[in-house]
Amino acid sequence: MKKKIALLTSGGDAPGMNAAIRSVVRVGVARGLEVIGIRRGYQGLLEENLVPMGPRDVSNIIQRGGTILKTSRSPEFKTPGGQQKAKAILERHGIDGLILIGGDGTFHGGEALGKIWRGQIIGVPGTIDNDVFGTDFTIGYDTAINTAMEAIDKIRDTADSHDRIFLVEVMGHHSGFIAQSVGVSGGAEEILVPEQPFDVAEVARRLREGRQRGKTSSIIIVAEGEETGGAVKLAKQLEPLAGYDMRVVILGYLQRGGIPTAADRVLATKLGAYAVDLFLQGATGVMAGDVGGKLCAVPLAETWTKKKPVDSYLATVQRQLAS
Ligand code: F6P
Repeated sequence: MKKKIALLTSGGDAPGMNAAIRSVVRVGVARGLEVIGIRRGYQGLLEENLVPMGPRDVSNIIQRGGTILKTSRSPEFKTPGGQQKAKAILERHGIDGLILIGGDGTFHGGEALGKIWRGQIIGVPGTIDNDVFGTDFTIGYDTAINTAMEAIDKIRDTADSHDRIFLVEVMGHHSGFIAQSVGVSGGAEEILVPEQPFDVAEVARRLREGRQRGKTSSIIIVAEGEETGGAVKLAKQLEPLAGYDMRVVILGYLQRGGIPTAADRVLATKLGAYAVDLFLQGATGVMAGDVGGKLCAVPLAETWTKKKPVDSYLATVQRQLAS
C-alpha cells in the first residue's frame, strides 16, 4: 500500500508557500506517495478539511503569493483536546506523515502533536519574519524585504521633497531581520530592532546632528517588535525631542503579499522536496533547513529555542552608512 503524507500551511502566509506546496506534491507523487492537502492549517485539520492532491492540482501556482491551501491561526489546536482530535483525524485517514509549512508557531504545534501521534512530522520554514533557527532564510523573507524596500524608495521621494522625517514600521514579529535588511537596502538613517536596545533621546540627537550635517530628510525603520511598541508610539516620544515634524507609515500586511521572488521560489522548491526526502528517510520531529547552501534536518524545538542573530557586522557599520 502507498504511504500517505498530508501537508498544510499555517500561521501568517508567506510568498513562496505555493512553490513549496507544488514541490511537496509533485516530488511526493513522483516518489510513489499519496498526497493529501489540508485546507486552512491546523483549524482545517480539526474540521477534517482534507483534499487529495496530484501534480495537476499545483499547476500554475509557483508564481502566486499567498497559499492555495489557505492558512489560519487555531486556538483550538493549541489545547490538549484539540491535539487529541487532530491525532484521531490523522489516524482515521491513515496519514503516515505530516508536512507543516509555517513558522515557529506552526512548529510548536507540530512538536506537541508529535508527542501523541505516531506519524512523522516534518517542518518547512515559511514565514516572512526569517526568525527561525536552523535555516539561513525562510520562505517569503526575500519577497517581503523586496516589497518593503520598494515602498521605502517611494517614501524617500516624498520625504526628500518635503524635507521630512518618516518612521516606517515593518513586520517581523519579535525579530529585526526584515527591519535590518530593509533599512540597509533602503539607505535608512536609523534601524530600530528588538535585538538592540536604544535610547530615544540618542536617536533624537542623531537626527538633529544629521540636519546640522546637511541632511534634509531621514528614514527611520522601526521593527514592529521593538521596545517602545511601534512607530506611532515612538514618533510621539521622538518628535518633541528631535524638534522636527514627523510622519509615520505602517507597511503592515502588504509585506506578506505579492509575487514571490526567484530566490523564494527556489528555496521553497528545494526545502519542499527535501521535506519529502526526510519523510522517506524515516525522519520525524525535524525541519528541513538550508544553512550555507547545505540541506539539513533541524530538531523542531531548536527552531525556536535557539536564536538566529541579525547581522552584527551590518549593525556595527550602520552609523557610518548613515553619516
Ligand atoms: O509571522 C508573520 C507575521 O506577519 C508577523 O510579521 C506579524 O507580527 C504577524 O504575522 C501578524 O499576524 P496576524 O496575521 O495574526 O495579524
